[in-house]
Amino acid sequence: MTYSDVLQNAKKTIKNCRVCPECNGLACGNLMPGPGSKAPGNGANVNWKAWQEIRLNMDTFVSHAPVDTSGKLFGREYSIPLIAGPIGSLLQYSDTDVTVPYNDGVMEAAAECGFLASFGDGLAGETLPGALASMEKHPAGVIPVLNPLPNETIIRNMAMFEQSSALALAVVVDSAGLFHWKGQDGGASSKTIEDLQELKAHTRKPFVVKGILTARAAEHAVEAGADAIIVSNHGGRVLPSAPSTAEVLPEIVSAVKGSTVIIVDGGLRSGSDILKALALGADLTLICRPFPIAWFGGGAEGVKLYVEKLRSELTEAMYMCGARRLSDISREMLRF
Ligand SMILES: Cc1cc2nc3c(=O)[nH]c(=O)nc-3n(C[C@H](O)[C@H](O)[C@H](O)COP(=O)(O)O)c2cc1C
Repeated sequence: MTYSDVLQNAKKTIKNCRVCPECNGLACGNLMPGPGSKAPGNGANVNWKAWQEIRLNMDTFVSHAPVDTSGKLFGREYSIPLIAGPIGSLLQYSDTDVTVPYNDGVMEAAAECGFLASFGDGLAGETLPGALASMEKHPAGVIPVLNPLPNETIIRNMAMFEQSSALALAVVVDSAGLFHWKGQDGGASSKTIEDLQELKAHTRKPFVVKGILTARAAEHAVEAGADAIIVSNHGGRVLPSAPSTAEVLPEIVSAVKGSTVIIVDGGLRSGSDILKALALGADLTLICRPFPIAWFGGGAEGVKLYVEKLRSELTEAMYMCGARRLSDISREMLRF
C-alpha cells in the first residue's frame, strides 16, 4: 500500500470529508458535526494559509551529515516532533462509532514509528476505557486530552490514567466554545488559573493545557503550573475570526519560552510546515485532521504511511535549510 492508495481508500469509507489533495478546510467549510470549522467556516483555512505564506531559506553551505529528527518530551524519546491530535468522537467521520479502534490504530502506529499520540474524551462512555486498554497494549507516548467539564468530572477522569503509562495529562480549555459540549455532565466552561491549579494538584503526571491563543493566556497557563501548552484554536472550531496559530506563536514564544514546553497545532500539513513551526519557536507540533483520513484509508498501516511521509519531508526540508538536528532549526531559516 502507498500513501496514494490510502487516500483513494479513504474516499470510499470516510463520511463528511472529501479527502482533498490539500487538507485546507475549504471543502468541509462549516460542517460541524464533521471536520469543518465554526460558522462561517473559514477557521481551518486561515490556519493552513498562514503556514503556506512562510517561505524557507535554503542553505546548503553546511557539512554533509545525516539528519536526526528525534527529541524528547518529558523524558520520552520521539523520532519526529509530532503528536497525533485528539478527536473526541469519530462519529464526526462515520455513521458507526469507531473511536475506540481509531485510537487503537493511531497508538499502534505511534508505538512503531515513534511519534506521540493523544486522544479525546468523547461523549461515548467506552472512549476512555477503550483508550486506556490501547495504551497498555501499545508502548507509545500518549496524552489523554480532557474537556473542560466541572473539575470533579475531570479529576475523576484523570484518576483513570494516573497509574497508566500516559505521558502527561491535558485539559483543553478552548472547548468552552464547542456547542455540543455545553450541557454535558454539568457542561463545558471556561477555567480560571485556580481551577487549573486544582487539576494540576491532582496528578503527578506532567500537566498540559491545550487551547492557548494569546501571550497572556500562555502566562496564565504557566502560572497554573502547565508543564506544556498547546497553542491552538481547536482547528477553527470554537471562535470565528480567531487568528491563525502561526500568527500568534511568536508572541507566545517571546512570553513563555523556557518556562514551559510549547506545542502548536492548526493547519500544519507537511514536514516543511513542521520545520516552520519549530523555527518560530515551538518545541513540538500536533496534527489532527489528516490522521482520521489516513486511518480510514488504511488503518494503522495508513497512519504509519502518513507519518513516514511527514518524516521524509521534514528530513529533506531540514537538510536543505542546513539543520542536521532539531536544535539547529532557527528563525533565520524563515522568510516572510
Ligand atoms: C472532528 C474533530 C474533532 C476534534 N476533537 C477534539 C477533542 O476531542 N479534543 C481536543 O482537544 N481537540 C479536538 N479537536 C481539535 C484538534 O485536536 C486540533 O486541535 C485541531 O483540529 C487543529 O489541528 P488540524 O488543523 O491539524 O486539524 C478536534 C478536531 C476535529 C477536526
